[in-house]
Amino acid sequence: MKIVDKVAVVSGGGSGIGKATVLALAERGARVVVADIDEVSGSQIVDQVLGAGGTAICVRCDVTRTKDLVHTFTIAVEQFERLDIVFNNARIGGEDLFADESGDWARIIDIDLTAVIDATRIAVRLMKQANQGGVIINTASLIGLWPMASAPVYAAAKAGVVNFSRSLAYLKDESHIRVNAICPELVDTAMALGGLGEAQLQELRSLGNILRPEDIAAGVLKLIEDDTRAGAIMSITVTDGRAYVTG
Ligand SMILES: NC(=O)c1ccc[n+]([C@@H]2O[C@H](COP(=O)([O-])OP(=O)(O)OC[C@H]3O[C@@H](n4cnc5c(N)ncnc54)[C@H](O)[C@@H]3O)[C@@H](O)[C@H]2O)c1
Repeated sequence: MKIVDKVAVVSGGGSGIGKATVLALAERGARVVVADIDEVSGSQIVDQVLGAGGTAICVRCDVTRTKDLVHTFTIAVEQFERLDIVFNNARIGGEDLFADESGDWARIIDIDLTAVIDATRIAVRLMKQANQGGVIINTASLIGLWPMASAPVYAAAKAGVVNFSRSLAYLKDESHIRVNAICPELVDTAMALGGLGEAQLQELRSLGNILRPEDIAAGVLKLIEDDTRAGAIMSITVTDGRAYVTG
C-alpha cells in the first residue's frame, strides 16, 4: 500500500514507538489520527506534525473501552473519509505481579490483548464496509515469542497478539485486509525507562544494545508498503547499535 494520502489511526501515538510511527507516517503524507489516553502528549505530537506541514488530529481514547475505540475510528472516517491503516500499539507500564494479591494482572490482559482484538474487530468491520482493503499492525513483543519469568502475564498477552494476528492472514484473500504483528526487542521509550531506570538505560545505549523507536516505525512502514505481507510476524532485534529485521 502506498502511504501518501492514506488515513492511519495510531494508538499510544503520544509517546515512544507510537510517536515515532505517527511522525514517520505523516512524513510519508498520511493523514494521522493520534489516539491516546494522554491528550496532552497526543496533542503535542499533532502540533509537531502540523508544524512540519503534515496532517494529524488527536482523539482522546482509552483503548480498553469499546466506546472510545468506536468513537476514534468514527472520527477518522468522518474527518478524512476513509480508514486505511490501524496501528494497535498502546500499553501501560507497571509490574507484572501475577502472584501478588494486589497485582492487577487482568489490566495487562485488557490493554495488551483484549484491546488489540477489540480494535482489530472494529477496524475490520469498517474496512469491509468501505471495501477498500486496509492494513492493521499489532504491536506484540519479542516476549510474545519467548518466555519471560519477570513478566508472565505480559508474555501471555503478547503471545496472544502474535497468534491472533497470524490467524487473520486469511483476510487478505477474503477482503484485501492485511493483519500483521511486530515484535520488538527492548526499545528506548518511557516504558523501558520505567522498567530499567536511567542508569541502566544509559549503559544499554552506550553499548548499542537498545533499539530506537524509529527502528520500529521503519518496520511498521515496511509492513504497510509490502502488499504480500499478511499474518506476518516481524521481529526487530539489536546488536552493536544496529537493528535487524526478521520475518
Ligand atoms: N519499549 C519496549 O522495550 C517495548 C518492547 C517490545 C514491545 N513494546 C510494545 O510497544 C508498544 C508501545 O510501547 P512504548 O515502549 O512505545 O511505550 P510508551 O510508554 O512510550 O507509550 C505508550 C503510549 O500508550 C498510551 N496509553 C497507555 N494506556 C493507554 C490506553 N488505555 N489507551 C490509549 N493509550 C494508552 C500512553 O499514554 C503512551 O502514549 C506497547 O505495545 C509495548 O508493549 C515495547
